[in-house]
Amino acid sequence: MRRVYVDEAGRVVDLPEDGRAVTRLADVAAIVHDPELDPDLVESAGAAARLALHNARLQADVRAQLDKVEESRRRIVTAGDEQRQKIERDLHDGAQQRLVALALELRIAQRQLGQSDPELERVLSQAVGELQVAVEELRELARGVHPAVLTEEGLAGALESLASRTPLPVHIASAPEGRLPGEIEAAAYFVACEAIANAVKHAQATEIRVCAEGRNGRLFIEVEDDGVGGARENGGSGLRGLVDRVEAHGGTLHVESEPGRGTRVIGELPCAS
Ligand SMILES: Nc1ncnc2c1ncn2[C@@H]1O[C@H](COP(=O)(O)OP(=O)(O)OP(=O)(O)O)[C@@H](O)[C@H]1O
Ligand SMILES: [Mg+2]
Repeated sequence: MRRVYVDEAGRVVDLPEDGRAVTRLADVAAIVHDPELDPDLVESAGAAARLALHNARLQADVRAQLDKVEESRRRIVTAGDEQRQKIERDLHDGAQQRLVALALELRIAQRQLGQSDPELERVLSQAVGELQVAVEELRELARGVHPAVLTEEGLAGALESLASRTPLPVHIASAPEGRLPGEIEAAAYFVACEAIANAVKHAQATEIRVCAEGRNGRLFIEVEDDGVGGARENGGSGLRGLVDRVEAHGGTLHVESEPGRGTRVIGELPCAS
């Protein structure tokens, strides 16, 4: 590695050999000065410079550590998302398909049986009904883990599907038309999911408004309800989990929730498009 000195503006400089004195500070800096200068003065200047260097090194160390922590936080969230996606696929391709196939076979058996044994026919029909409930429950579970529509159609489609399953009117004011990076779509979707679930559970709201749009390289996701307000970021694991998830991607999450004035959850995420 080539080692050079730079001046205070960062320009590479050679140490002079023109009669001026050079006092080195450890092996990282040098003071160039008049050889006649009072040695005590040079020493004092050296001490101040050493302190400044030490501080700069500490700051650089802290910055590097922080970068590492931020990077690992992002990796943990992304790994969690990948895991959720895998579980969703396994549920869909495994248990769900098997139950659907089983229901089909039972129906065939039911048909072959005809009217010959009404009791057995009743049992089979009950089994088919229960299987359908199990398939629906599995589908709901998989959706909560990581909805397939998010992977397939992106944020707009996933928000539509979420709205249609919510027992309150959800108005989607805007949603990005194109696709965004998967982890950003997932983070925005989970913000909407949790904020809508909270509005249904806690707010006594009559309607919910969702707005997702990209502006200046950021994706804004906003969920507003007209309920009782008073949401607390540290009241449960839902909002706190959202803060973690959004911050892990370099974003921010705010909750505005004055008592009696509804609740607004605003997530802001960096995204290139
Ligand atoms: N939209 C809202 N309207 C009114 N109160 C809310 C709203 N959202 C959250 N709160 C209040 O803030 C608290 C914290 O919300 P948070 O989502 O973190 O936890 P939770 O919903 O109680 O539990 P979890 O999300 O872990 O299942 C809630 O318990 C509730 O009292
Ligand atoms: Mg919650």
